[in-house]
Amino acid sequence: MKVFLIGAGTMGTGIAQVLMSSSVVDQVYVMSRSREKAKSLIQRCIVKLERLVQKEKMSSEGLKVAVDKVTVVDDYHEVSNCSLVIEAVAEDYEIKKMVLGDICKHISEKTIIASNTSSLSITALAGHVRWPENVIGLHFFNPAPVMELVEIIAGAVTSEETRANVFKFVEDLGKKPVLVDEAPGFIVNRMLIPMLNEAVTILAEGVATKEDIDTAMMFGAHHPMGPLKLSDLIGNDVVLSIMDVIYKETGDSKYRAHPLLRKMVRAGLLGQKTNKGFYEYDNA
Ligand code: 3HC
Repeated sequence: MKVFLIGAGTMGTGIAQVLMSSSVVDQVYVMSRSREKAKSLIQRCIVKLERLVQKEKMSSEGLKVAVDKVTVVDDYHEVSNCSLVIEAVAEDYEIKKMVLGDICKHISEKTIIASNTSSLSITALAGHVRWPENVIGLHFFNPAPVMELVEIIAGAVTSEETRANVFKFVEDLGKKPVLVDEAPGFIVNRMLIPMLNEAVTILAEGVATKEDIDTAMMFGAHHPMGPLKLSDLIGNDVVLSIMDVIYKETGDSKYRAHPLLRKMVRAGLLGQKTNKGFYEYDNA
């Protein structure tokens, strides 16, 4: 199976690693805003896969196969040779709409278009595609190579065939699929992201330090990492944009983003990707 992947951010990179490591995927075409970004995505994947080889979780032969199946491309022409296109560009409706419009020029009636949106409406996105019944949400979790779950989101007109094909594909990747009918935040983000926002509220109110908030949830609720560390991992900008989408779609004030989160995003304190968020990082 040939897959075309667009987007070389955190999620695009994680998804690329999953695709490269899968025996059901023969070829992965990666496209990004620039060739350099796409090349750097592959480099980051190779570093992670080499670590797996060092830990004897992957053979050197497996690494070679994974690396050989990925190709950087500068345009959408190879889309016509792929049965699946995964869009993992910025979580911005206008950008996704533009990308879908470009993809559309190269698809056939059989091409499935999956969006890795974390909260946007699949029905609205499908409205920009020639065969909207082939459009579906494919929501991976960060870090994608580690997290087992993938939410499969059906828009209003997504066909049963598209749903069934994508469900099987996710199973073949070795991931755990769950089916969701479109709703703001789907399942996980609707619960998880307001919890992270609540942690920001507790911090802003001076109820506890960031360290104690994180310790509390790790040791009192058995979360693998604290909510403020997790917000830094996801990206505080992504957390804010999901809160804003859920708030806008539901009109429910319980989904209002805390002003501290917005202030941090305006200041560029996005978390791990900018080396500074609630905590400081050294990713150099
Ligand atoms: N890529 C590949 N592998 C990675 C990785 C990455 N980015 N990060 C960690 N790993 C691997 C490590 O190599 C290690 O593998 P090993 O057990 O074979 O040695 C394993 O994962 C565990 O990593 P670490 O030992 O470094 O650290 P932890 O045990 O603390 O685990 C964690 C790190 C997996 C991130 C864990 O803390 C965790 O599960 N945190 C919660 C993550 C979470 O909730 N994600 C969902 C966010 S919501 C989302 O993504 C939706 C979006 O729409 C916002």
